[in-house]
Amino acid sequence: MQTAHPQKTVLLVGASRGLGLAMTEEYLKRGWRVIATGRPNSMDRLRRLDGALEAETLDITLAGQVADLRARLAGRRLDMLFVNAGVKNDDRETIADVSTDEFVRVMVTNALSPMRVIEAFQDLVPASGTIGAMSSGQGSVANNVNGSYEVYRGSKAALNMFMRSFAARHADDPRTLLLMAPGWVRTDMGGPEARLSIEESIPKLVDTIEAYEGRSGLHYLDYLGRVVPW
Ligand SMILES: NC(=O)c1ccc[n+]([C@@H]2O[C@H](COP(=O)([O-])OP(=O)(O)OC[C@H]3O[C@@H](n4cnc5c(N)ncnc54)[C@H](OP(=O)(O)O)[C@@H]3O)[C@@H](O)[C@H]2O)c1
Repeated sequence: MQTAHPQKTVLLVGASRGLGLAMTEEYLKRGWRVIATGRPNSMDRLRRLDGALEAETLDITLAGQVADLRARLAGRRLDMLFVNAGVKNDDRETIADVSTDEFVRVMVTNALSPMRVIEAFQDLVPASGTIGAMSSGQGSVANNVNGSYEVYRGSKAALNMFMRSFAARHADDPRTLLLMAPGWVRTDMGGPEARLSIEESIPKLVDTIEAYEGRSGLHYLDYLGRVVPW
């Protein structure tokens, strides 16, 4: 007798537009149930999507909203938990001229808050599941030879470091841990000059995530599945 293949569920955090919205569409197309989050003022595009979608509101920097969503999802199983949300500062701003407030905004959004979301929801991910975050090639310390995008780079390098610490704290954990670099993509953040369209990045990025299902430990990969040096 054939057993029915249970539908998998992904929680995609920061899915209101750009790469997160495209990942939502891609997982729906692949037959997954998607719980996709956006900030309260940015829910329109998510709510217009058809399919096995639950749209939830979440600002990842607000601990109360993280706790409320965690309470709403109590008892759920997440085959994948993925935090995509991120921000950048003005590209021309170096560490020499960034304001403390702006530095804190980028660091808290890109490094601390994704980890807080991961810490809050990770117990909903079973042993066979995947926990990931959207990093960037800019987060690679080894690849930083031209020094541009300093503050943003620092925030993604910090995210990478926190994921390595999470992995070290869960050394015997069979789950797959991923830091993904989507390439330079034409979104609000990437801008119109970026090398890749969303369609050139996201389906391949999701293929890569699926190819790593069941491979425990932490992997830092680009959208084509190439290992990115730390
Ligand atoms: N595009 C690229 O070339 C590129 C390259 C490497 C890495 N990345 C990374 O990929 C991810 C997505 O980038 P993107 O290009 O799609 O950027 P985007 O178009 O600017 O979208 C950013 C997403 O993050 C969400 N977000 C920002 N702050 C948030 C917060 N405090 N709480 C919840 N959600 C928040 C935004 O929600 P709202 O709509 O509410 O603002 C939006 O959904 C980011 O982590 C980015 O650093 C992008």
